[in-house]
Amino acid sequence: MREKVKVAIMGFGTVGTGTYKILTENRELIVNQVGADIEVVKILVRDINKKRQIEAPEYLFTSDADDILENPEIDIVVELMGGLEPAYSYIMKALERGKHVVTANKEVMAKKGRDILTKADENSLRLCFEASVCGGVPIIRALKNSLATDRITKIMGIVNGTTNYILTKMSQEGSEYEEALREAQALGYAEADPTADVEGYDAAYKMAILSSIGFHSKVDIDKVKREGISKVSQLDIEYGNELGWTIKLLGIAQDVEGKLDISVSPVMLPKQHPLAGVMGVNNAVFINSEAVGELMFYGPGAGQMATGNSVAADIMAIAKQIVMGNKMQSNCSCFTDKDYVEELKAGYYTRMNVINKPGVLAKIAAVFGNFGVSIESVLQKKTEGDKAEIVWITAKVGESSFRKAIEAIESLDVVNSISSIIRVENN
Ligand code: NAP
Ligand code: HSE
Repeated sequence: MREKVKVAIMGFGTVGTGTYKILTENRELIVNQVGADIEVVKILVRDINKKRQIEAPEYLFTSDADDILENPEIDIVVELMGGLEPAYSYIMKALERGKHVVTANKEVMAKKGRDILTKADENSLRLCFEASVCGGVPIIRALKNSLATDRITKIMGIVNGTTNYILTKMSQEGSEYEEALREAQALGYAEADPTADVEGYDAAYKMAILSSIGFHSKVDIDKVKREGISKVSQLDIEYGNELGWTIKLLGIAQDVEGKLDISVSPVMLPKQHPLAGVMGVNNAVFINSEAVGELMFYGPGAGQMATGNSVAADIMAIAKQIVMGNKMQSNCSCFTDKDYVEELKAGYYTRMNVINKPGVLAKIAAVFGNFGVSIESVLQKKTEGDKAEIVWITAKVGESSFRKAIEAIESLDVVNSISSIIRVENN
């Protein structure tokens, strides 16, 4: 019987320190469930002299990855550095050296997940990545286990805490975008480079991971349509509010008769939708499946302790199997290669600045009509001298027809500018 399972942590930032804190502070709770002690024996960082938020014995720290990868005593390597490289190479090397791996790295899993899981299976090892999507929310375990026998048709998610925090601050407190972003960074929610959060890359990685598990298919990250929140304005939040909608950065993934459509973009969502009430740094994933129907998973999508807990639980699950002497497998659930839907229909909210004179509305409506775009409602929001602001809400339409209509409208001499276009999700 094993008395100890030895773990090395690569990265001692927000998540690394949270993981270490849980493993040390809840040591007894963990030993009682695993039947052995989980001991952290090495910690990899870039700068071993940096002052850390959490104290750990000095002898644990190293800046040489080989102190971990070439150490035959280490059972589990926990990658919490972030970024594609050197994280990907370290994970592959750890697997080649017979070590189980836990990671919170969504970029690596979205871009290289199948390679990594295949390597883990070839070597009869476990590779766990619960914290890579929605921080503290146990969504991957639920998809891989509890929903594994069901057919999932749609996954909608608020999967980025930083952008949800910013949009909540903007809508509830009228904060400016930059100010809300700075607060999110200070709280440790945003990635080191916030572009990954605000331009939707982080959410796209997470939707690719969820889709690959939920729809059992390899997902090409380049096929995930992506738009961030940096163009969302206070005015759109205000107008959306008047229409009974709230703006969320929403990931929407669908399996339409065996073909996939995956997108991340700002969306106008009716206030009564369960996802509309998800505020601040919280994340939520709303699932439609054939057998269970509707399900929602909700909780903190980022932060030291919440994310550290997901990592620690993965470590514990592997440690338990090591102690029981189980045969290990990672079981990549993306065993098909599905195609992608050519074009999906959606409704659109469009705000434009036009010349305020008779006949303008009719001229624009005619162009929409020529391209087969049906209008659900139109509102004249503001009139200042010879300028007016108009908001159009379209019925569901193919994106290419809508974009062609917008291009033609933009060239009309009565239109000053198209100020914003936001997808509407109202069913
Ligand atoms: P972080 O605070 O920036 O910490 C990164 C750590 O990795 C630092 O300790 C850094 O060392 C170390 N590191 C980075 N590159 C290294 C390299 N080449 N060699 C050695 N050490 C290196 O990052 P984080 O927020 O904890 O995120 C870690 C991972 O978790 C990322 O994949 C992230 O996407 C994911 N994640 C984060 C959250 C969250 O709430 N923050 C939630 C879910 C998932 P130094 O300290 O010496 O600089
Ligand atoms: N930066 C991410 C977010 C946290 O804001 O959701 C890590 O996944």
